[in-house]
Amino acid sequence: MPADDEDMETRLSAGECIDPPSSFRQQANLSDEAVYEEFAADWPDAWARAGDRLDWDTEYDRVLGGDRPPFRWFEGGRLNACYNCLDRHLDAGRKNKVALKWEGRLGESRSYTYLELYREVNQFAAALRDLGVEEGDVVTLYMPMIPELPVAMLACARIGAPHLVVFAGFAADALAMRMDSAGSEYLVTCDGYYRRGTPVHQKNKADNARIELDHDVDATVVVDRLGDETPLDDDEYGYRDLLAAHRGTEVDPVHRDASDPLFLIYTSGTTGEPTGVRHTTGGYLAHVTWTSHAVLDIKSEDTYWCSADIGWITGHSYIVYGPLALGTTTMLYEGAPDHPEKDRVWELIERNAVDVFYTAPTAIRTFMKWGEQYPEQHDLSSLRLLGTVGEPINPRAWKWYYEHIGGEECPVVDTWWQTETGGMIVSTLPGVDEMKPGSAGRPLPGIGATVVDADGTRVDPGEAGYLVLTDPWPGMPLSMAENEGWFVDREPTRPVLDRFDWAYFSEDGAAVDEDGYITLLGRVDDVINVSGHRFGTMEIESAITDVEGVAEAAVVSAPHDLKGQSVLAYVCLAEGYDEEPLRDTIQDAVGTAIGPIAVPDAVVFTPDLPKTRSGKIMRRLLSSVARGEELGDMSALRNPEIVGELETAFDGNN
Ligand code: PRX
Repeated sequence: MPADDEDMETRLSAGECIDPPSSFRQQANLSDEAVYEEFAADWPDAWARAGDRLDWDTEYDRVLGGDRPPFRWFEGGRLNACYNCLDRHLDAGRKNKVALKWEGRLGESRSYTYLELYREVNQFAAALRDLGVEEGDVVTLYMPMIPELPVAMLACARIGAPHLVVFAGFAADALAMRMDSAGSEYLVTCDGYYRRGTPVHQKNKADNARIELDHDVDATVVVDRLGDETPLDDDEYGYRDLLAAHRGTEVDPVHRDASDPLFLIYTSGTTGEPTGVRHTTGGYLAHVTWTSHAVLDIKSEDTYWCSADIGWITGHSYIVYGPLALGTTTMLYEGAPDHPEKDRVWELIERNAVDVFYTAPTAIRTFMKWGEQYPEQHDLSSLRLLGTVGEPINPRAWKWYYEHIGGEECPVVDTWWQTETGGMIVSTLPGVDEMKPGSAGRPLPGIGATVVDADGTRVDPGEAGYLVLTDPWPGMPLSMAENEGWFVDREPTRPVLDRFDWAYFSEDGAAVDEDGYITLLGRVDDVINVSGHRFGTMEIESAITDVEGVAEAAVVSAPHDLKGQSVLAYVCLAEGYDEEPLRDTIQDAVGTAIGPIAVPDAVVFTPDLPKTRSGKIMRRLLSSVARGEELGDMSALRNPEIVGELETAFDGNN
């Protein structure tokens, strides 16, 4: 190990802190520690700092209305998110600045200036209106990482139609379930796209979803990505034809109430079906704009790259809304990180002189595995700040990122948040705080977050507990603000009463240290985090039990070097069915019902599942078998004889 690596290892193992470089502090958007105190002393009014980064059509009367649910952030305010992301930059001298830089999968690239993006968004907004979309209608967007996706999002925002982006890799069933649940009658999709050089026929998946829907779709817009001639039905429209029909049209941005929904997004939880989260126009936009400024340190002159997919919340908040509201250049990358070569990401950073890079620990672990020779081939000195999100980052990966990508010159922000929080909640402020690899940091200024035990009592430093948010925050979704079941009425049973008789249980385990830094310990519910993507075990189980011949299934996570966690399925077959042909069928069924990333890495056939006397599957035991851990207390088990068989079956499969 080279000397500097040894140094770093010693510092890490001692849990030592690393100061942000002074060159960074000097230019940081936030560099005064007093910001924490200012928010604490003047809460919630200090959140006006976030609200005032936006342009309002009607100024808000109060930063936070309601001292119990429903909470109304920026109450009385009216605004338009598209106006804030586009129109206001035209007057601020940014009309010829690049807003969106797209790098396509086949090596193509396309840039849109703020003026060009404004024009295309207006034309598409006019087209949507023409197709019958009215304020409040939900428009589903089912597209890969192509510029038409953010264009469609902003066009929806312009006319006050909440968008529902469905990850392009999801299957027809998953699309249909979301459209049905949201009552969405409009769909924007594309003919197809390329994955690893082979075309995926997205339109076919969309057609299949339409067949499954409980209701009719009024209009479908199809973006031509593959360049093939796609035959269109009467209620289907080509994207380019629509733009051409509305060339030069401008659409006035609709003034939306701060609490009106900007979009819906579905995420996995403990229930069998994904649940919809509705984010607001004012609070959400203020939260993501403020954190893009305070945590990602984005400046309008920057070129910024978040490598997430827009199909997830990270892409909504930190590819589209936050960065565009700040008038920066945001990159959109459709390709794979190893195509044409494993230096692709670093080549893109060098070529585009990227200032800020935000990615996931799973990607960092993959880059580490490929080796530092790839980043070393490139000049990465344009980088100023690095970020991660989606899952805990282990100190070794943190160190590699800091050293080999940031050259020890860039702070690393480990940002903890969720689909439900809309924007970042726990992170260091890179111009203020020291960094502790492996620990996300303190709650951001103005955020009330703490770690409690099952009774809702704060735990001592170093003890594990549940991460709860004790104060409302601007990016909170509508259901939570309105208290549709988000009160602490489940574990932990007693809310931590700081300001309100209210708290949000994040379903994450965590520990806090003497300095208030929070280390995340993973989900405490039945959610599996594969490469930073959430899947409920019940969703996957129900796809498996739909397969003919499957009697029962239980899904657990297993640790995985690159993905963080992988999906492992234990399956019992009905009498008379053979294992081998069903293994592929089961994997295909999950791929079809949910999507390729949810497919189990291993299917373990077992004659029975371990059950408690009350008939509940003992997942803890299944996880322990998968991890090769001590099996612990099995006295609650009704069928202890199954344990030996499970271990044998597991070993036989791995
Ligand atoms: O378990 C936490 C993990 O990801 C979950 C949220 O997933 P999702 O809603 O898909 O949003 C991902 C992007 C914000 C959390 O409950 N998670 C997210 N960020 C971190 C994390 N775990 C540890 N450290 C993080 N920085």
